[in-house]
Amino acid sequence: MQLTANIQNHHFDHILLNAAGVMCQTNEELNTVLSSSYTGAVVTKSATADHRPGNPAPRYYELPNHLGTINSMGLPNEGFNYYLDYVSTNPSQKPIFFSIAGLSKQENLDMLHQLQNSDFDGLIELNLSCPNVPGKPQTAYDFEATQQILSEAFAFFKKPLGVKLPPYFDIVHFDMIADILNQFPLAFVNTINSIGNGLVIDEDSDTVVIKPKGGFGGIGGTLVKATALANVRALRQRLNADIKIIGTGGVTTGRDVYDHILCGADLVEVGSQLAIEGITVFDRLERELTAILEEKGYQSLEEVRGQLKVL
Ligand code: DOR
Repeated sequence: MQLTANIQNHHFDHILLNAAGVMCQTNEELNTVLSSSYTGAVVTKSATADHRPGNPAPRYYELPNHLGTINSMGLPNEGFNYYLDYVSTNPSQKPIFFSIAGLSKQENLDMLHQLQNSDFDGLIELNLSCPNVPGKPQTAYDFEATQQILSEAFAFFKKPLGVKLPPYFDIVHFDMIADILNQFPLAFVNTINSIGNGLVIDEDSDTVVIKPKGGFGGIGGTLVKATALANVRALRQRLNADIKIIGTGGVTTGRDVYDHILCGADLVEVGSQLAIEGITVFDRLERELTAILEEKGYQSLEEVRGQLKVL
C-alpha cells in the first residue's frame, strides 16, 4: 500500500510525522524522527530568533485514562540559527518543515528573510498559534494581524510557506480565516495547534497540574480529536485546492489517521501520542491505517482523502 502525499514539489513517502514541539528540539530528536522508516518528514521545534528556556516546570502533564495532555512549554527552543545549521547539514532525503514562532511580527519577518536568503530548500511553517507565551496572544485569532503578516511575508517570500493555525469553533470564523488564507499562495495549512488555555485539576490535591499561567495550558491528545477533525474538514471545504492540509490533533490510532484523511488531510501529525509512546508510534499507526484501508478494499489514500459522507 502506497501511503504518499505531495506538497508543491515535495514528495512524502509516508504521511505521518511529528507535530512541532514533540521530539524535535535537538539534533538527536530530529534525527530520531527522520530515521524512522514510517515518517514522511520532520518538523522542527518552533524557533524564536534567540534561544529560549521556556516556562518554569512542571509545564507538561499527561491526563489519566489516555485522555490527552496539557502543556505550557512556552516555546523552549535552541534559537533560529541552531535549526538553520541543522537543516543545512542534514543528509536525509526526507523533506523538513522549518517551524518559526517569532514573538513579534518583525521577528517572524526577520527569520523569513533569513530563510529566503539561505540554501534551505524545504518547507517553512509559520506558527501563528502558540497559546503559551504569557502576554502574547495567538496571532491567528486576530484576523487583521494574520492578514497583515501574510501580506508582508508574501511580498518577498518565495519558498513553500504554510501556517500553523489554532482551532476555530465558529462557522463564521472558518469562513473568515479561509477568506484570508485564500488570498495568498500558501503551500499548506496545519490545523490544529493545541486547544489553548484549558485547565486540568489534580483530584487528590485540588491543585492545577502545571505551573505556568496559574495552570492554564494547551490541550492535546484524545480530548481534541473532534475539534481537529472539524477544523480539517471545514478548511478543506473552504480553501483553494492547491493549499494542502496537514491534520494534527487527537491521533492515537490508525482510525484517527484515517478520519483525518477522510476530512481532507494530506499529511497527519502526531503530538501527544508521540510524546507518550515514543518513536514506534509511527510504525503502529501506519500498520493500523493500512489494515483499515485493506479491509475496506482501497488501493490508495486518494480514494479516501476528503471522501467523508454526510447524512
Ligand atoms: O501547545 C503548544 N505548545 N503549541 C505551541 O505552538 C507551542 C508549544 C509551547 O512551546 O508552549
